[in-house]
Amino acid sequence: MLQSLKSLKIFLLLAVLTLWALPPAPAASASEHGKARPAKTAILLVTFGTSVPQAQKVFGLIETAVRKAYPGVEVRWAYTAKFIRDKLAKKGQKLLSPAQALALLMAQGYTQTAVQSLHVIPGAEYNDLLRVVRGFKGMSDHFRLMAGRPLCSTTDDLKAVVAALASQPPKERKDSQAVVYMGHGTHHPAGVVYPALDYMLQSKDPLTFLGTVEGYPTLEDVKAELLARDVKEAYLLPFMTVAGDHAHNDMAGDEAGSWKTVLTKAGVKCIPVMKAITENPKIVAIWLDHLRVVMAHFK
Ligand code: CO
Repeated sequence: MLQSLKSLKIFLLLAVLTLWALPPAPAASASEHGKARPAKTAILLVTFGTSVPQAQKVFGLIETAVRKAYPGVEVRWAYTAKFIRDKLAKKGQKLLSPAQALALLMAQGYTQTAVQSLHVIPGAEYNDLLRVVRGFKGMSDHFRLMAGRPLCSTTDDLKAVVAALASQPPKERKDSQAVVYMGHGTHHPAGVVYPALDYMLQSKDPLTFLGTVEGYPTLEDVKAELLARDVKEAYLLPFMTVAGDHAHNDMAGDEAGSWKTVLTKAGVKCIPVMKAITENPKIVAIWLDHLRVVMAHFK
């Protein structure tokens, strides 16, 4: 009796080990009917989103560049900001979240999707996106997913951004006029991108500065720099994917706390320029480079 209990134990242990060591299910090439499934590729462009129609048009520039680079590939959009999706839904515009867009692509039989982040930094929104991508990756062997990095992900990215921004201020800018970029800023650790970029911009052009609305460097930091260099005039530009709410209100608005108001009070004449970084083809080219890395895996 004792002996048979022992052998039963060994048998169960072996059974468990055998199951555990079984090879995984066949790879993505075979469908449930044993036929190879032809690759069906999509590109999902993911942005925070905007409800400003003019700013939405700017997204069209990116889409055109992506379609030109990948003719015949399905290109779709997802907005990460729920309040913007809700706002647009009231106007009859149906924008999907990344999870909704991926679920649809999966249901429609797409076999591989490049999820290109159009975020500026690898901050909270990008990390939320990665979690969604990881979740969908676990759902099927027939739905390959890869995420493309945001704009400012590496030191090389920052160098490319600084080079691209050379053509961002208006051509009529005089040497004595400063250029102040307004970034979003964040509490997320990736917020270190902003002071790094500010340093690199100033190294190239001592009168170019980058501040943030919600992080570091602050408007007060930028103001101190402008005053220390005796700047009398400055162009204000958003360092954001769209010239939306922050650009119109926090940067160029007439209310008490806006950058224009604060700097004007400090003796710096401000010339706001409503030009998003997305309107700069060299910036778009950096996102396209990041997308290319992903698409190379899908060949
Ligand atoms: Co904001």
